[in-house]
Amino acid sequence: TPRVFSGIQPSGNLTLGNYLGALKRFANSQNEGIESIFCMVDLHAITVWQEPDALRHATRQLTAGFIASGIDPQKSILFNQSQVPEHTQMAWVFNCVARMGWMKRMTQFKDKAGKNAEQASLGLFGYPALMAADILVYHATHVPVGEDQKQHLELTRDIAIKFNNDYGVDFFPITEPVIEGAATRVMSLRDGSKKMSKSDPSDMSRINLTDDADTIAKKIRKAKTDPEPLPETTEGLEDRPEARNLVNIFAALNDQSVDQVMQDMGGKPFSEFKPLLAELAVEKLAPISSEMGRLMQDVGEIDRILANGSERARTIAHPILRQTYDIIGMVQPA
Ligand code: TYM
Repeated sequence: TPRVFSGIQPSGNLTLGNYLGALKRFANSQNEGIESIFCMVDLHAITVWQEPDALRHATRQLTAGFIASGIDPQKSILFNQSQVPEHTQMAWVFNCVARMGWMKRMTQFKDKAGKNAEQASLGLFGYPALMAADILVYHATHVPVGEDQKQHLELTRDIAIKFNNDYGVDFFPITEPVIEGAATRVMSLRDGSKKMSKSDPSDMSRINLTDDADTIAKKIRKAKTDPEPLPETTEGLEDRPEARNLVNIFAALNDQSVDQVMQDMGGKPFSEFKPLLAELAVEKLAPISSEMGRLMQDVGEIDRILANGSERARTIAHPILRQTYDIIGMVQPA
């Protein structure tokens, strides 16, 4: 039976990239009746320094972001990672399955650690093993994510395969990444070759879900583009990363294909296209940010949702961890 799992780090503002690449698509599986589990990965967040109060706030705000994006905490399981100890317990097992060489190849580690890898935390290096644990401790079969998580999901498959082979079992499923839609890789508004990211020092490079209408309009107006109008066809977007990015964003926000957007917008100058994009972005994002604001008025309720979700998550994770321990030869109470 299919089971969906995905996670988002509560580290700073949610961006339009997180929304279009992940959040917006998460409600799909829930609404199709597929069991869906969504996690605020607070333990992943601390692989780089987080101010404790800011982390608490970001975890609650992210929870509000899930709900505002259509995740129903009754239908889906919504929880934070640190309340379900089976994640870290499974991660230890996977630390012993994964190889140093696999981890060293992870481009996200290289990007985040930068030139000074000796100063990176051990947690940042082992990050993908915890991510594999997040997924496999539920025997999840499908993981909706943005393009940047693809390599981590390949590693998750490698870990599952090696575990199954080493112990001669058919225990962990080989997970399918689900990377779909027009905006699987939303780029920076300042630089069409860089991913839109919550950690970019320039706030003008991204749209935050909490930005107000004026800020959104200003960021789109100032978004970097080339001087040419939009091409007439989708093919014409090929060597124009900034134009391509804005069209992708439009398509994803409006639930259209890129071809459909180009039929309406092809040939328009940016002075015409950008205001339409800004209007669309405000129309789609404003209800989400105001709903997030409303939900954040009752932090007690958010904490109850996370506690309840964590309990439900444990009822799935605990038996799978227990079976894993049995397979690898850990003596456990009868
Ligand atoms: P994180 O917190 O960096 O991002 C959360 C989700 O948003 C997607 N995303 C984007 N999609 C399109 N364009 C962008 N510019 C963009 N930026 C971010 C990410 O692909 C992701 O889907 N390691 C994960 C969190 C994680 C996880 C997991 C995910 C931990 N355990 C298990 C799935 C399953 C991460 O850092 O995502």
